[in-house]
Amino acid sequence: MIIMAQMMMKKPPSGLEDGIEKISATQELGLEHALLDRIMLAMNHTIRMAGKGSKSSLEPCVRGCELIKQVVDKHHMVMEEEEIYPRFENTKLADLARVLKDQHTEMRKMVARMENLASKGSDVDELRNTFMDFHDMVMAHAAWEETCLFPCMEGTWSQSDLDNLKETQEKHEKKLLGEDATMKIYGMVSELESSAGISGLKDFTRRAK
Ligand SMILES: [Fe+2]
Ligand SMILES: [Fe+2]
Repeated sequence: MIIMAQMMMKKPPSGLEDGIEKISATQELGLEHALLDRIMLAMNHTIRMAGKGSKSSLEPCVRGCELIKQVVDKHHMVMEEEEIYPRFENTKLADLARVLKDQHTEMRKMVARMENLASKGSDVDELRNTFMDFHDMVMAHAAWEETCLFPCMEGTWSQSDLDNLKETQEKHEKKLLGEDATMKIYGMVSELESSAGISGLKDFTRRAK
């Protein structure tokens, strides 16, 4: 299913690919958070439609969980656990790094639970509750990383350490998904959005009353 999604990658906007090549290691981590946001938006939309009694299937929710496991868990979270959090041991941010690591453990359990519930499709309420817990924790988790951890990396790591991290990220991503890994992830997210019935950003525009 993931391979199918990769093959169906939509044409990216011009300039995106060149821009991604130039971003820093911490910007790359922030970009991956935003891709996870897009996955969660597609899952939320699917669960809301199911809750309204729509006959639409929960398959996009299952696919969202698969995507999280493939590109968020096995890449982003592993990079943070192996290359970033350990460097904050014995620093003022040691407690924060410990909480972040603990949250990764809970996220993995929640994704497994959501995938199971969405596959069965029998308990949408429980799926919604699990999703909302996951969503809230991910939002807080990413916000603390982006407002505390990543700026501290930029301020305290040497440029060569930051460059080495970027190189490690690229190698790891390539090992998982081959050439043009980031663009493949964009394609997979885009395909997930289509399968959830989302045509683009404008679908999320709300009008003030
Ligand atoms: Fe994290
Ligand atoms: Fe993160």
